[in-house]
Amino acid sequence: MRLNLDIADLKALARRRVPKMFFDYADSGAWTESTYRANEEDFARIKLRQRVLVDMTNRSLQSTMIGETVSMPVGLAPTGSTGMQHADGEMLAAQAAEEFGVPFTLSTMSICSIEDVASVTRKPFWFQLYVMRDRDFVLGLIDRAKAAKCSALVLTVDLQILGQRHKDVRNGLSAPPKLTLKNILDMAMRPRWCAGMLRTERRTFRNIVGHAKNVGDLASLSSWTNEQFDPQLSWKDVAWIKERWGGKLILKGILDVEDARMAADTGAEAIIVSNHGGRQLDGAPSTISVLPDIARAVGDRIEVHFDGGIRSGQDVLKALCLGAKGTYIGRPFLYGLGALGKPGVKLALDIIRKELDITLALCGKRDIRDVGPDMIHRGPAMD
Ligand code: GLV
Repeated sequence: MRLNLDIADLKALARRRVPKMFFDYADSGAWTESTYRANEEDFARIKLRQRVLVDMTNRSLQSTMIGETVSMPVGLAPTGSTGMQHADGEMLAAQAAEEFGVPFTLSTMSICSIEDVASVTRKPFWFQLYVMRDRDFVLGLIDRAKAAKCSALVLTVDLQILGQRHKDVRNGLSAPPKLTLKNILDMAMRPRWCAGMLRTERRTFRNIVGHAKNVGDLASLSSWTNEQFDPQLSWKDVAWIKERWGGKLILKGILDVEDARMAADTGAEAIIVSNHGGRQLDGAPSTISVLPDIARAVGDRIEVHFDGGIRSGQDVLKALCLGAKGTYIGRPFLYGLGALGKPGVKLALDIIRKELDITLALCGKRDIRDVGPDMIHRGPAMD
């Protein structure tokens, strides 16, 4: 059997084990997917400075994100339908993150509910909020996250309407999948996935079902978003959400310096520089290309976090050098989950931890809190 040595290995195994519509859901960008590709490609263009003959002993990856100690500054990003990559996916990923000592962020559009995840974890996790037109439902979600003792609310600001992902349309994405001949044949080829799904009762969006009134076509994420998400959400809404929540707030989906300044004015704890994994505005720049300017503009006023395109520890280090205090992985942990369940999420984190640790040493540093732009090679590739 092939060893799983990097995130690409986990991706290949997940492709075999997860039904096509859910693997594709994770592995898609909007329209031409140019921004999805740019997130990864732009990382590859950035080169690190190799330094030699420096003491490499006693290295540390420990840091903090919004004041919470993390064993490395790499959290699990909120991802929709995670419980369709593997049965009970959000509960397993949250446990893996807890055991690893990094934050787990539960998506509003998760299969396992806030209460499901709280029932299998001991440390507080973070909750990602989408704002629906039904404000009672939103207030209820915020209160449920408080009751579950979530320690941060991550408000996503870049998805009030959905960028089209062609693969989801072609695959007829829904949770649970419709029992068409094509889907039945596809699932029949993934016996482990089916066995897990038959053992669990968690097969639809449990943060929503039974909590929101007039739930329409929830099985289809795109029609639910069109019907329910509030396209009028504005900076003013951030204030009442912050007030109602009363705890640490993170604004996810900032890609522009002007927006970063407005976000810093809200008094939130952190922003996440993000283009939603290239799933929203196709044609937007990669996140790593905008990070330095955003960090320069607001880094002294608000903690700057980063996601998009991280596939290795080297990528994490590049983002930290260019101004991020914390980073997130989405697809890499989903591939681990789809491939091997909870041990796969831990493996994805461990692969990234080992790469980050050795790369830090080869750059001549011992403490992850001690990295900066001077570690980036300023050669022709950066012009
Ligand atoms: C939901 O957040 C998605 O990007 O599909």
